[in-house]
Amino acid sequence: MSLDFCKRTPKVELHAHLNGSISRETIEKLAMKKNPELYKDLRICFDKGKAETLDNVFQMFKLIHQISDNTEAIYTIAYDVIHEFSADNVKYLELRSTPRDVPSSGMTKSSYIEAILKAIEDCHKENLDIVVKFLLAIDRRNDLSVAKETVDLAERYSRLSGGTVVGIDLSGDPTVGDACTLVPILRDAKFRGLKLALHLAEVPAVEETEEVLKILPDRIGHGTCLHPNAGGSQGLVDTVLQHRIPLELCLTSNVICQTVAHVDNHHFKYWYDQGHPCAICTDDKGVFSTSLSEEYCLAAETFGLTRKDIWTLSYNCIDMIFAEEAVKQDLKSKWNSVKSYELNCE
Ligand code: IMP
Ligand code: ZN
Repeated sequence: MSLDFCKRTPKVELHAHLNGSISRETIEKLAMKKNPELYKDLRICFDKGKAETLDNVFQMFKLIHQISDNTEAIYTIAYDVIHEFSADNVKYLELRSTPRDVPSSGMTKSSYIEAILKAIEDCHKENLDIVVKFLLAIDRRNDLSVAKETVDLAERYSRLSGGTVVGIDLSGDPTVGDACTLVPILRDAKFRGLKLALHLAEVPAVEETEEVLKILPDRIGHGTCLHPNAGGSQGLVDTVLQHRIPLELCLTSNVICQTVAHVDNHHFKYWYDQGHPCAICTDDKGVFSTSLSEEYCLAAETFGLTRKDIWTLSYNCIDMIFAEEAVKQDLKSKWNSVKSYELNCE
C-alpha cells in the first residue's frame, strides 16, 4: 500500500484531541515565544520514540498545556491543526478539547471555546476544503459539578455556534478516576441532544464499561479491552455489536501507550472482520508523530487491505459523523467524484 494513495484518499478524522494534535512547528513557534527552556524539554519528549508509555504521554500533555495556557495559543494551535489535517486530505474533522481556566492569563473556559470556534470560522472563511466540528471534553478525573459545567457550555455553544459544537467527549488518563460517577451527567447530555463520543475500555475495566455502555454512547473511543481475550467480556462485545456503536480506532496511539502489545494484535482486525463500523483515527497526531494517511497505510500493511478496502473504510466513516444528513451527502459526492479515477490509476 502506498502512502501516496492513502494521502490522496479523502478522509474523515473523528478522534483528534486538540492539544495532542499540535505539530512540532507549532510547538516551536509557541514555546520559543514563551520559554526557550520549556522548548528544550518538549523537543526531547517529541523526538520519536520518547512517548513510549501511557504515563509518559500524560506527562507530555502537562508540558503542552504549559504553552497552551492562553487564548492566543489555543487559537494558533486550532488554526494550525485544521490546516495540517486539510493538507493531509481530511475533508471532515471532529476536534475535541478540554476547556481550561487559567486565571494568570485571563483565559476562561468560555474564551477557550471561543478561541477554537474563531479558528474554525477563520479556516472556513479561507474556503479551506474541510468541515470542522467540535466536541467539549470531560476529563475522567473531573467531579460531577465540573462535568455539568462542561455539558452546560456544550449546550450553550452548540446554539451560539450554529451547530459547530456537536457533543461531548469523555477522556483523560484511563487509570485514574471512575467514569461511573459521571454517568448521570452523560445521560443528561444525551437527553439535551448532545452527541457522546466516550473513551471506553482503554484498559481492562469490565464493570465501569458495562455501566457506561448502558447510556448507549454514539461512538466509542478505542474500546481496546472490550473483548474477553483483552480483559473484557462477551457481554460487552455483544452490546457493542448489537447496537452497532461505531469504534474510533487509533493504531499507533495504542501501540505507543502499550495498551496493545503489537500492531498485529490490534483489535481493529476483530471488529473489521465482524463488519462492525470502524473509523481509523490519529488520537494525538503530534504526540505520536503520525498523520491520518500514515494510520490508514499502517492498517493496510498490517491487515492486508487493498486500495478498495481502504477507500471503503474511509467512505464508511461518513455515516459515523456527528453532522446533519446534508453534510453526509456532500461528503459522499466528494468521495464519489474521485473514486473511479483513484481506484483505477496505479
Ligand atoms: P486537550 O483536551 O485538547 O487538552 O487534549 C489533551 C487531553 O486529551 C489530555 O490531557 C487527555 O485528557 C486527553 N487525551 C489525549 N489522548 C488521550 C488518550 O489516548 N486517552 C485518554 N485521554 C486522552
Ligand atoms: Zn483519545
